[in-house]
Amino acid sequence: MISVSDYREQARKKIPHFLFEYIDGGSVSESTLRANRRDLERISLRQRVLKDVRDINTELDLFGTTYSMPVVLGPVGIAGLNARRGEVQAARAAEENNVPFAMSTVSLCSVEEVAGSVRDPMWFQLYMAKDRVFLKELLKRVQNTGCEILLLTADLPVVGTRYRDVRSGLTRCDGLPCQLWRLLQILARPSWVWDVGIMGGPHNLGNLVPLMGSDAGLKDFLAWTDENFDPSATWDDISFVRENWSGKIIVKGLLDPEDASQAIKCGVDGIVVSNHGGRQLDGAPSTAKALPGIADRVAGTVPILVDGGISSGTDIIRMLALGADAVLIGRAWVYALAAAGHRGVNQVLHLLKEELRIAMALTGHTKPSMIDRNTLIDKH
Ligand code: GLV
Repeated sequence: MISVSDYREQARKKIPHFLFEYIDGGSVSESTLRANRRDLERISLRQRVLKDVRDINTELDLFGTTYSMPVVLGPVGIAGLNARRGEVQAARAAEENNVPFAMSTVSLCSVEEVAGSVRDPMWFQLYMAKDRVFLKELLKRVQNTGCEILLLTADLPVVGTRYRDVRSGLTRCDGLPCQLWRLLQILARPSWVWDVGIMGGPHNLGNLVPLMGSDAGLKDFLAWTDENFDPSATWDDISFVRENWSGKIIVKGLLDPEDASQAIKCGVDGIVVSNHGGRQLDGAPSTAKALPGIADRVAGTVPILVDGGISSGTDIIRMLALGADAVLIGRAWVYALAAAGHRGVNQVLHLLKEELRIAMALTGHTKPSMIDRNTLIDKH
């Protein structure tokens, strides 16, 4: 496997169909999901020559830490179901490659389990849940693990409409025919049944166990999360998070320059330009399209991160050229985890770094900070 698309095809063969569809899919007609890829591929890079690119350094300083490249393993819900104790495997691979691992609130493993398996502090993603007492407790637990960087998801007041999850039986699966359909999908993947089903328990959402008890099933946990996204959240809630979190706060899910200005006014420490991987508002612009306008508005105030369809080193350069300081990958690392566990995530990080290095050489850059709109043919 030599590319993210190879890992995607391998993941399709390794994990139950409903899990693959959950990772792979987007909302409604998936036009935003497709636009993320399409708009990235349309961006032409300027090839430059004879620039002495012997010494290329892909490192980046972000929030006071030097990472090996401008890539973050972004938060993905229930990622831990894709391989045995999946978040632990991914966090280890991230640490070995010196990039941050951002853990989802709705992970299989708890923050304590992941933090206990690595030395470096991870990043943590938080949803604005209705249950503020629970949020306070969770933030305390996260902070106790040494985590200092919080990604606050702002684009999920309600969950997007995802046809694939209904068709695959992941959601709204109440009747016997649907449950049998799901069971068949599981039985069709015996190596996953062994690795995750039999050896990979407990199968609950580790961070929510104190709230729900360890007897609750995965279905109860997912129902809780669905009911607990807080549609009443506003910018004022940033101060609630601030009161309960002494580290950095990065708001994730911005697509509009006005929202980006508002985030800066609220004193956040960073932003993530994101359409949630095309999983929320279908019809929203691709992140490659949204990023330049946001960068024009807020560049130089706080670090700008971006996600959405990034699957090669050239995609990373494209996003940096459009104004990002670093990118988040989501599907790319989860396909690799599903395909080959820790080794797969390691390999994907290696290949992204190598591709980034080559793309930097061919565009005549020796450091990420040199990459800007001059790296592009069309200036956007
Ligand atoms: C959760 O954030 C999801 O996109 O499924």
